[in-house]
Amino acid sequence: MAYRSRIIGTGSHLPDKIVTNAELAKTVDTTDEWIVERTGIHQRHIAREGETTAALAFQAGENALEAAGISASDLDLVIVATTTPDNTFPSTATKVQAMLGMAHGAAFDLQAVCSGFIYALATADNFIRAGQAKNVLVIGAEVFSRIIDWEDRTTCVLFGDGAGAVVVQAFEPEDDEKTGILSTHLHSDGRLRDLLYTDGGAGSNSCVGKVRMLGRELFRHAVSNLASVVDEASEANGLQKNDIDWLVPHQANKRILDSTAKKLGLSAEHVVVTVDQHANTSAASVPLALDTAVRDGRIQKGQLVLMEAMGGGLTWGAALVRW
Ligand code: ACO
Repeated sequence: MAYRSRIIGTGSHLPDKIVTNAELAKTVDTTDEWIVERTGIHQRHIAREGETTAALAFQAGENALEAAGISASDLDLVIVATTTPDNTFPSTATKVQAMLGMAHGAAFDLQAVCSGFIYALATADNFIRAGQAKNVLVIGAEVFSRIIDWEDRTTCVLFGDGAGAVVVQAFEPEDDEKTGILSTHLHSDGRLRDLLYTDGGAGSNSCVGKVRMLGRELFRHAVSNLASVVDEASEANGLQKNDIDWLVPHQANKRILDSTAKKLGLSAEHVVVTVDQHANTSAASVPLALDTAVRDGRIQKGQLVLMEAMGGGLTWGAALVRW
């Protein structure tokens, strides 16, 4: 039997604490004007003490399960994409699994930084296509604020905390039915790992480390890699420019979003933008944006949704979904 997968519910969760650009400018040498002009970011949510990745992930997961109309007992796999796990081990996914009251199935973390959700969605899709899972909870969750150097104005203004989730379910398509997750496309180039990294790690110096970034070079790679992966997704599905109803991009920088939309021939009304409110929440950014546009009614059944992301590694990828 040939199985395919579709997203049957979305959810998200943000810490209630909001930090505006003006508030940041009190502690670091920056201005609201610089941040808005260069990135489109106005504010970000920041986790409070004790508010961990697992806590955010659990809430987002519960919301997605509720929207999907299934319970944790129906799940057979939980994947958490995160760069900021609660512990070096065990995985945040097993913690979330326990919080959900599950003692069956499997749970694991996946690390691809800002591309983590696309990688996790592709993994869930492939588990389902292989017949190894029926209901998968895919979560992107981060407390990136804990690995930021708050004295480095070139990075600290860019990131925020949050979590987003989807429930992916197996179905058996009719003969030529083209719904659900149509294709996923993953890439990485480890030669470019020095463009965005933490200066620490469990296996190198026993520290978590802080985010270090070469912003301008990263920007250049983001624009060209995202353009090529959206081309790849379009070609794989025989799409023309304008066929896509919604672009749900990784929310790193408004200027990167605009350039990908231009490449696809999409006007601003077809791009889901949350970077202004959430900043860059790494693996959480795509599912947070997706949930926003599903809940406010923009994304409708039958529409074509293209998700894409790029992050440290470098890693990048895209997923095309007929909703
Ligand atoms: N406030 C005020 N001035 C600043 C700040 C700040 N927060 N940060 C940097 N500057 C200064 C710099 O020091 C520099 O000053 P100088 O000209 O006197 O040397 C000036 O602003 C310009 O700096 P640039 O780095 O050239 O600015 P740029 O226009 O490239 O914007 C930015 C920087 C926003 C980081 C951009 O390069 C970018 O978005 N890159 C992509 C980074 C990214 O998205 N990373 C996330 C992970 S990867 C991903 O998600 C795709």
